[in-house]
Amino acid sequence: MRTIAVISSVGGAGRTMLTAALAGLLTNRRHAVLAVECDPRNTLALYCGLHDPARAGLVSHMLAPSGDVGAAALESEDGVLWLPWGGARDDSSTLDAVQAAKVSATLHGQHSWLRQLLARVDLPGHGVVLIDAATWPSVHAAQAIDAADLVLVVVPPQPLACITLPRLRGELKALGKATLYVANAVSPAAQLHTDILTLLRNLLGTELSPYRIHADTGIPEALARNENFCISQPHSQAAHDLQGLATWLSTWTRQSARASASSAGGAT
Ligand SMILES: Nc1ncnc2c1ncn2[C@@H]1O[C@H](COP(=O)(O)OP(=O)(O)OP(=O)(O)O)[C@@H](O)[C@H]1O
Ligand SMILES: [Mg+2]
Repeated sequence: MRTIAVISSVGGAGRTMLTAALAGLLTNRRHAVLAVECDPRNTLALYCGLHDPARAGLVSHMLAPSGDVGAAALESEDGVLWLPWGGARDDSSTLDAVQAAKVSATLHGQHSWLRQLLARVDLPGHGVVLIDAATWPSVHAAQAIDAADLVLVVVPPQPLACITLPRLRGELKALGKATLYVANAVSPAAQLHTDILTLLRNLLGTELSPYRIHADTGIPEALARNENFCISQPHSQAAHDLQGLATWLSTWTRQSARASASSAGGAT
Protein backbone atom coordinates (compact mmCIF):
# COMPACT_ATOMS: atom_id res chain seq x y z
CA MET A 1 0.00 0.00 0.00
CA ARG A 2 1.32 3.45 -0.91
CA THR A 3 0.20 6.77 0.54
CA ILE A 4 0.10 9.93 -1.58
CA ALA A 5 -0.48 13.32 0.09
CA VAL A 6 -2.00 16.03 -2.10
CA ILE A 7 -0.88 19.41 -0.80
CA SER A 8 -0.40 23.01 -1.92
CA SER A 9 0.97 26.24 -0.52
CA VAL A 10 -2.07 28.30 -1.61
CA GLY A 11 -5.79 27.69 -1.15
CA GLY A 12 -8.11 26.81 -4.04
CA ALA A 13 -5.25 25.11 -5.92
CA GLY A 14 -7.31 22.06 -6.91
CA ARG A 15 -6.23 19.56 -4.20
CA THR A 16 -9.72 18.23 -3.51
CA MET A 17 -10.57 18.03 -7.22
CA LEU A 18 -7.33 16.14 -7.94
CA THR A 19 -7.77 13.77 -4.98
CA ALA A 20 -11.30 12.90 -6.09
CA ALA A 21 -10.45 12.56 -9.80
CA LEU A 22 -7.35 10.44 -9.12
CA ALA A 23 -9.28 8.20 -6.72
CA GLY A 24 -11.65 7.21 -9.55
CA LEU A 25 -8.93 6.95 -12.20
CA LEU A 26 -6.65 4.80 -10.01
CA THR A 27 -9.61 2.53 -9.21
CA ASN A 28 -10.09 2.11 -12.97
CA ARG A 29 -6.44 1.01 -13.08
CA ARG A 30 -7.22 -1.81 -10.61
CA HIS A 31 -5.89 -0.19 -7.44
CA ALA A 32 -7.87 -0.43 -4.23
CA VAL A 33 -8.26 3.25 -3.29
CA LEU A 34 -9.03 5.07 -0.05
CA ALA A 35 -9.42 8.86 -0.34
CA VAL A 36 -8.91 10.57 3.03
CA GLU A 37 -9.60 14.23 3.82
CA CYS A 38 -7.26 15.82 6.35
CA ASP A 39 -8.81 19.27 5.98
CA PRO A 40 -11.45 20.86 8.22
CA ARG A 41 -13.04 22.36 5.09
CA ASN A 42 -14.85 19.00 4.86
CA THR A 43 -15.67 19.19 1.15
CA LEU A 44 -14.31 15.87 -0.14
CA ALA A 45 -17.62 14.03 0.29
CA LEU A 46 -19.25 16.44 -2.17
CA TYR A 47 -17.07 14.81 -4.84
CA CYS A 48 -18.31 11.33 -4.03
CA GLY A 49 -21.97 12.08 -4.59
CA LEU A 50 -23.12 13.54 -1.25
CA HIS A 51 -25.13 16.76 -1.50
CA ASP A 52 -24.15 18.00 1.99
CA PRO A 53 -20.87 18.06 3.93
CA ALA A 54 -20.21 14.73 5.70
CA ARG A 55 -21.06 14.37 9.38
CA ALA A 56 -18.90 11.33 10.12
CA GLY A 57 -15.26 11.03 9.16
CA LEU A 58 -11.68 11.34 10.33
CA VAL A 59 -12.52 13.88 13.03
CA SER A 60 -15.32 11.79 14.48
CA HIS A 61 -12.90 8.88 14.73
CA MET A 62 -10.39 11.16 16.49
CA LEU A 63 -13.00 12.30 19.01
CA ALA A 64 -14.43 8.85 19.65
CA PRO A 65 -11.78 6.34 18.58
CA SER A 66 -13.16 2.92 17.79
CA GLY A 67 -11.14 -0.03 16.58
CA ASP A 68 -12.51 0.40 13.07
CA VAL A 69 -11.84 3.73 11.38
CA GLY A 70 -13.52 2.22 8.29
CA ALA A 71 -16.87 2.61 10.09
CA ALA A 72 -16.85 6.30 9.10
CA ALA A 73 -15.88 5.57 5.47
CA LEU A 74 -18.28 5.77 2.53
CA GLU A 75 -18.07 3.62 -0.59
CA SER A 76 -19.03 5.03 -3.98
CA GLU A 77 -20.51 2.99 -6.82
CA ASP A 78 -17.15 2.60 -8.54
CA GLY A 79 -15.64 1.05 -5.39
CA VAL A 80 -13.64 4.02 -4.04
CA LEU A 81 -13.59 4.28 -0.24
CA TRP A 82 -13.96 7.85 1.03
CA LEU A 83 -13.05 9.02 4.51
CA PRO A 84 -14.07 12.68 4.72
CA TRP A 85 -13.02 14.99 7.55
CA GLY A 86 -16.56 14.98 8.96
CA GLY A 87 -18.22 17.34 11.38
CA ALA A 88 -18.55 15.21 14.51
CA ARG A 89 -21.96 16.57 15.51
CA ASP A 90 -25.30 15.41 14.21
CA ASP A 91 -26.80 18.88 14.06
CA SER A 92 -23.92 20.89 12.62
CA SER A 93 -20.80 20.66 10.49
CA THR A 94 -18.74 22.57 13.05
CA LEU A 95 -17.15 21.33 16.28
CA ASP A 96 -17.87 22.80 19.68
CA ALA A 97 -14.99 24.46 21.56
CA VAL A 98 -14.04 21.38 23.60
CA GLN A 99 -14.00 19.14 20.54
CA ALA A 100 -12.00 21.69 18.53
CA ALA A 101 -9.41 21.92 21.35
CA LYS A 102 -9.10 18.13 21.45
CA VAL A 103 -8.58 17.90 17.68
CA SER A 104 -6.02 20.68 17.80
CA ALA A 105 -4.13 19.04 20.68
CA THR A 106 -4.04 15.68 18.88
CA LEU A 107 -2.77 17.17 15.62
CA HIS A 108 -0.13 19.27 17.40
CA GLY A 109 0.96 16.68 19.96
CA GLN A 110 0.96 13.46 17.92
CA HIS A 111 2.92 14.19 14.75
CA SER A 112 2.36 10.72 13.32
CA TRP A 113 -1.29 10.36 14.34
CA LEU A 114 -2.51 10.00 10.74
CA ARG A 115 0.35 7.72 9.70
CA GLN A 116 -0.36 5.41 12.63
CA LEU A 117 -4.07 5.40 11.83
CA LEU A 118 -3.48 4.57 8.16
CA ALA A 119 -1.08 1.77 9.12
CA ARG A 120 -4.16 -0.03 10.46
CA VAL A 121 -5.94 0.24 7.09
CA ASP A 122 -5.73 -3.00 5.18
CA LEU A 123 -5.52 -2.30 1.45
CA PRO A 124 -3.92 -4.87 -0.90
CA GLY A 125 -0.28 -4.53 -2.06
CA HIS A 126 -1.04 -2.09 -4.86
CA GLY A 127 -3.60 -0.18 -2.81
CA VAL A 128 -3.37 3.61 -2.72
CA VAL A 129 -4.34 6.02 0.04
CA LEU A 130 -4.80 9.56 -1.29
CA ILE A 131 -4.82 12.32 1.35
CA ASP A 132 -6.47 15.66 0.56
CA ALA A 133 -4.66 17.95 3.03
CA ALA A 134 -5.40 21.49 4.16
CA THR A 135 -3.29 24.29 2.69
CA TRP A 136 0.37 24.15 3.79
CA PRO A 137 1.70 25.26 6.26
CA SER A 138 -0.74 23.75 8.75
CA VAL A 139 -0.84 20.88 11.23
CA HIS A 140 -3.18 19.09 8.83
CA ALA A 141 -0.70 19.31 5.95
CA ALA A 142 2.12 18.24 8.31
CA GLN A 143 0.16 15.09 9.26
CA ALA A 144 -0.41 14.27 5.59
CA ILE A 145 3.23 14.84 4.65
CA ASP A 146 4.39 12.67 7.56
CA ALA A 147 2.10 9.84 6.39
CA ALA A 148 3.09 10.10 2.72
CA ASP A 149 5.34 7.91 0.59
CA LEU A 150 4.89 10.49 -2.17
CA VAL A 151 3.88 14.14 -1.88
CA LEU A 152 1.92 15.53 -4.83
CA VAL A 153 2.23 19.32 -4.74
CA VAL A 154 -0.49 21.11 -6.71
CA VAL A 155 0.74 24.39 -8.18
CA PRO A 156 -1.74 26.78 -9.80
CA PRO A 157 -0.07 29.23 -12.20
CA GLN A 158 -0.28 32.13 -9.75
CA PRO A 159 2.48 34.42 -8.48
CA LEU A 160 1.68 33.57 -4.84
CA ALA A 161 2.09 29.86 -5.52
CA CYS A 162 5.55 30.51 -7.00
CA ILE A 163 6.59 32.80 -4.14
CA THR A 164 5.67 30.24 -1.47
CA LEU A 165 7.01 27.19 -3.34
CA PRO A 166 10.75 27.38 -2.47
CA ARG A 167 10.03 27.24 1.28
CA LEU A 168 7.69 24.27 0.86
CA ARG A 169 10.21 22.53 -1.42
CA GLY A 170 12.98 23.15 1.12
CA GLU A 171 10.89 21.55 3.86
CA LEU A 172 10.03 18.51 1.74
CA LYS A 173 13.69 18.05 0.79
CA ALA A 174 14.77 18.33 4.44
CA LEU A 175 12.23 15.62 5.28
CA GLY A 176 13.56 13.46 2.42
CA LYS A 177 10.11 13.13 0.84
CA ALA A 178 9.66 11.90 -2.74
CA THR A 179 7.76 14.74 -4.42
CA LEU A 180 5.97 15.38 -7.69
CA TYR A 181 4.81 18.91 -8.58
CA VAL A 182 1.72 19.28 -10.80
CA ALA A 183 0.58 22.52 -12.42
CA ASN A 184 -3.21 22.79 -12.32
CA ALA A 185 -5.75 25.03 -14.04
CA VAL A 186 -3.34 26.10 -16.77
CA SER A 187 -4.58 28.20 -19.70
CA PRO A 188 -1.92 28.10 -22.42
CA ALA A 189 -3.42 31.24 -24.00
CA ALA A 190 -2.55 33.27 -20.88
CA GLN A 191 0.97 34.73 -21.11
CA LEU A 192 1.30 34.73 -17.31
CA HIS A 193 0.61 30.99 -17.20
CA THR A 194 3.17 30.25 -19.92
CA ASP A 195 5.78 32.36 -18.11
CA ILE A 196 5.09 30.68 -14.78
CA LEU A 197 5.33 27.21 -16.36
CA THR A 198 8.75 28.12 -17.79
CA LEU A 199 9.83 29.33 -14.36
CA LEU A 200 8.56 26.10 -12.72
CA ARG A 201 10.35 23.94 -15.30
CA ASN A 202 13.63 25.79 -14.64
CA LEU A 203 13.19 25.58 -10.86
CA LEU A 204 11.90 22.01 -10.55
CA GLY A 205 13.33 20.15 -13.57
CA THR A 206 12.10 16.53 -13.60
CA GLU A 207 10.24 17.01 -10.30
CA LEU A 208 7.60 18.89 -12.35
CA SER A 209 5.10 16.45 -13.87
CA PRO A 210 4.86 16.63 -17.67
CA TYR A 211 1.09 16.27 -17.12
CA ARG A 212 -0.10 19.80 -16.45
CA ILE A 213 -3.86 19.94 -15.90
CA HIS A 214 -5.53 22.44 -18.20
CA ALA A 215 -8.12 24.90 -16.90
CA ASP A 216 -11.60 23.69 -17.80
CA THR A 217 -14.88 25.32 -16.79
CA GLY A 218 -16.39 21.82 -16.96
CA ILE A 219 -14.59 20.92 -13.70
CA PRO A 220 -16.55 23.26 -11.36
CA GLU A 221 -19.67 22.65 -13.48
CA ALA A 222 -19.39 18.88 -12.93
CA LEU A 223 -19.03 19.50 -9.18
CA ALA A 224 -22.15 21.68 -9.20
CA ARG A 225 -24.07 18.94 -11.03
CA ASN A 226 -22.74 16.19 -8.74
CA GLU A 227 -21.06 14.52 -11.72
CA ASN A 228 -17.67 12.90 -12.18
CA PHE A 229 -15.84 15.22 -14.62
CA CYS A 230 -13.70 12.45 -16.20
CA ILE A 231 -16.84 10.41 -16.90
CA SER A 232 -19.07 13.28 -18.05
CA GLN A 233 -16.38 14.92 -20.25
CA PRO A 234 -13.95 12.09 -21.11
CA HIS A 235 -12.70 13.71 -24.34
CA SER A 236 -11.74 17.06 -22.82
CA GLN A 237 -8.10 18.09 -22.59
CA ALA A 238 -8.28 18.26 -18.78
CA ALA A 239 -9.66 14.69 -18.57
CA HIS A 240 -6.83 13.55 -20.85
CA ASP A 241 -4.31 15.32 -18.57
CA LEU A 242 -5.80 13.65 -15.48
CA GLN A 243 -5.62 10.23 -17.19
CA GLY A 244 -1.91 10.83 -17.92
CA LEU A 245 -1.21 11.78 -14.31
CA ALA A 246 -3.15 8.75 -13.03
CA THR A 247 -1.13 6.42 -15.28
CA TRP A 248 2.11 7.96 -13.97
CA LEU A 249 0.95 7.49 -10.35
CA SER A 250 -0.21 3.92 -11.03
CA THR A 251 3.21 3.01 -12.43
CA TRP A 252 4.96 4.75 -9.51
CA THR A 253 2.75 2.89 -7.00
CA ARG A 254 3.48 -0.54 -8.47
CA GLN A 255 7.23 0.13 -8.78
CA SER A 256 7.46 1.62 -5.31
CA ALA A 257 5.51 -1.26 -3.72
CA ARG A 258 7.75 -3.78 -5.53
CA ALA A 259 10.91 -1.96 -4.39
CA SER A 260 9.84 -1.88 -0.75
CA ALA A 261 8.75 -5.55 -0.92
CA SER A 262 12.13 -6.64 -2.24
CA SER A 263 14.00 -4.53 0.33
CA ALA A 264 11.86 -6.14 3.05
CA GLY A 265 12.85 -9.58 1.77
CA GLY A 266 9.67 -10.33 -0.20
CA ALA A 267 6.99 -9.22 2.26
CA THR A 268 4.45 -6.58 1.10
N1 LIG B 1 -8.18 22.44 -13.77
C1 LIG B 1 -9.21 23.18 -13.31
N2 LIG B 1 -9.92 23.96 -14.17
C2 LIG B 1 -10.97 24.70 -13.74
N3 LIG B 1 -11.40 24.73 -12.47
C3 LIG B 1 -10.72 23.98 -11.56
C4 LIG B 1 -9.61 23.18 -11.93
N4 LIG B 1 -9.16 22.54 -10.82
C5 LIG B 1 -9.96 22.94 -9.81
N5 LIG B 1 -10.90 23.79 -10.25
C6 LIG B 1 -11.95 24.47 -9.46
O1 LIG B 1 -11.28 25.34 -8.55
C7 LIG B 1 -11.97 25.37 -7.29
C8 LIG B 1 -11.00 24.96 -6.18
O2 LIG B 1 -10.69 23.59 -6.36
P1 LIG B 1 -10.50 22.65 -5.09
O3 LIG B 1 -11.62 22.82 -4.15
O4 LIG B 1 -10.21 21.28 -5.60
O5 LIG B 1 -9.17 23.30 -4.51
P2 LIG B 1 -8.52 23.08 -3.06
O6 LIG B 1 -7.05 23.24 -3.25
O7 LIG B 1 -8.99 21.80 -2.50
O8 LIG B 1 -9.14 24.33 -2.30
P3 LIG B 1 -9.34 24.60 -0.71
O9 LIG B 1 -8.13 25.40 -0.30
O10 LIG B 1 -10.62 25.38 -0.68
O11 LIG B 1 -9.44 23.25 -0.02
C9 LIG B 1 -13.16 24.42 -7.42
O12 LIG B 1 -14.30 25.15 -7.78
C10 LIG B 1 -12.75 23.50 -8.59
O13 LIG B 1 -13.87 22.98 -9.27
MG1 LIG C 1 -9.93 21.36 -0.70
